[in-house]
Amino acid sequence: MSGSINRQVVLVEKPSGKLGSEHFKMVEGAMPEPKDGEALLRVRYISLDAANRAWMHGATYRSAVEANSVMAGGAIAEVVSSKAPDLAPGDIVFGDTGWQEFAAVPAKHLTKMPKLEPMTHLLSVFGIAGLTAYFGLLEVGKPKEGETVVVSAAAGSVGSIVGQIAKIRGCRVVGIAGGADKCSWLTSELGFDAAVDYKDGAVFRALRAAAPKGIDVYFDNVGGDILEACIPQMNNYGRIACCGAISQYDGVPSAHGPRGVPG
Ligand SMILES: NC(=O)c1ccc[n+]([C@@H]2O[C@H](COP(=O)([O-])OP(=O)(O)OC[C@H]3O[C@@H](n4cnc5c(N)ncnc54)[C@H](OP(=O)(O)O)[C@@H]3O)[C@@H](O)[C@H]2O)c1
Repeated sequence: MSGSINRQVVLVEKPSGKLGSEHFKMVEGAMPEPKDGEALLRVRYISLDAANRAWMHGATYRSAVEANSVMAGGAIAEVVSSKAPDLAPGDIVFGDTGWQEFAAVPAKHLTKMPKLEPMTHLLSVFGIAGLTAYFGLLEVGKPKEGETVVVSAAAGSVGSIVGQIAKIRGCRVVGIAGGADKCSWLTSELGFDAAVDYKDGAVFRALRAAAPKGIDVYFDNVGGDILEACIPQMNNYGRIACCGAISQYDGVPSAHGPRGVPG
């Protein structure tokens, strides 16, 4: 492997406004050499997540991504060679490899994955999106049969799984998504009971119609105006799972929180 090229995507500059392709460049780096306790990985599938943008604002549950470094990100990767006792060539792992073809990563930061096809499912339903949806809904939201569950970014990777789990739990499920096509996918293919197209405007009224008995669980992926529309419609003892605030990630942070809510 030595002497091979490692193609990498580098974040050249942190965006001050909206993120664009001009903030990245492709470079050819050196092939990494694993140290003791590390494995050399060949990246198979990179997870492009909403959170990648949020990491550019500063440290969150992980350190901030900095300019002039390989863009950070989780991926499914195959072990090429290993200096760690529990990993062998051919093993499939998940870890933060960054956006590059090869990475040397400490074994303690890697999770061994089962071998299944399509391998992309390891990043979606069996990956962080699935875990986030499952535990966020069931442990934070605690939905009960017959309750109304509303989820935003409902056609996204987390939201689409949240809605399907809520249906399995016997809830009335309302998804909020942008555009008629996504809304019709939610109801016709995923089995949601209703969908609200927030791009039509008037989210508050559309939600009231879709959730006439009020909201018992709101799984919030977007924050901002949609969170603001949901809060007054929460039932007594309702639960909000604050998963993300994607409406606030790209562009200049507006520090826009829900208005009209007593502190
Ligand atoms: N993926 C994960 O593993 C993970 C883990 C933890 C937390 N989260 C959080 O969960 C949330 C959803 O992540 P995801 O991976 O499911 O994202 P995703 O699959 O990339 O979907 C994101 C969707 O959010 C919607 N959106 C974007 N801007 C919006 C705005 N201003 N207002 C309303 N909707 C907007 C868009 O759908 P429309 O076309 O419908 O507008 C977009 O397709 C994020 O806040 C993320 O930080 C994700």
